Amino acid sequence: MKKILSLLLISAILAAIIIGSGVYNIAATEKHWPITEKLIEWVRISSIHAHSENIEVPSLEDGDDMLKIGATHYHAMCTSCHLAPGMKSTELSLGLYPQAPVFYQRETIVDQAEMLSLAKAYFWVIKNGIKMTAMPAWGLSHDDASIWAMVAFILKMSGMTMEQYQELTRSTQDHETSHEHHDHAH
Ligand code: HEC
Repeated sequence: MKKILSLLLISAILAAIIIGSGVYNIAATEKHWPITEKLIEWVRISSIHAHSENIEVPSLEDGDDMLKIGATHYHAMCTSCHLAPGMKSTELSLGLYPQAPVFYQRETIVDQAEMLSLAKAYFWVIKNGIKMTAMPAWGLSHDDASIWAMVAFILKMSGMTMEQYQELTRSTQDHETSHEHHDHAH
């Protein structure tokens, strides 16, 4: 028992010396080993699942307005990393490691249970962000209703065409413009 303990202690000291020497390359261009990537993915999936499974999902079929609100938020804050229909990689999205998923290229989900757990996971991630990645926590600046609108929109993004995307974002831009005109009139 004593032997095992001292062996563990020596390994820990050796590991600290190696890491402290700076030999580990923390560059975003230096990819993880496949096994490390699998491990990180497992940690992320398990953590998001455990933290989001008890979240109550409101109705996401709240007519067109919810989608338009979500689309407007998405258009303003998310496309530089997650792109949008008709959009190529950006200077920012290219350099990310881990890469940000491209939602409109994801497969459409038909299974209701899968859809529900994805909605919970998306909500939790958008609100809290993901540590040690570029994914920010938007819950510090946005209320739950805005975040659910973004979730509803992202879930509808699979296979969305450029025209459909522009339609959803354009109408809110018109809406905002008419608000501005309204404000100027007063
Ligand atoms: C600066 C880049 C950046 C911005 C801006 C950004 N994200 Fe992300 N996002 C990421 C990265 C990188 C990941 C993947 C992290 C990982 O693999 O662990 C991610 C992951 C996610 C996920 C989890 C996807 C999944 O399948 O687990 C969701 C949902 C998400 N982002 C939504 C959003 C929304 C909504 C916005 C805008 C409000 C946004 N993101 C803005 C970089 C960004």
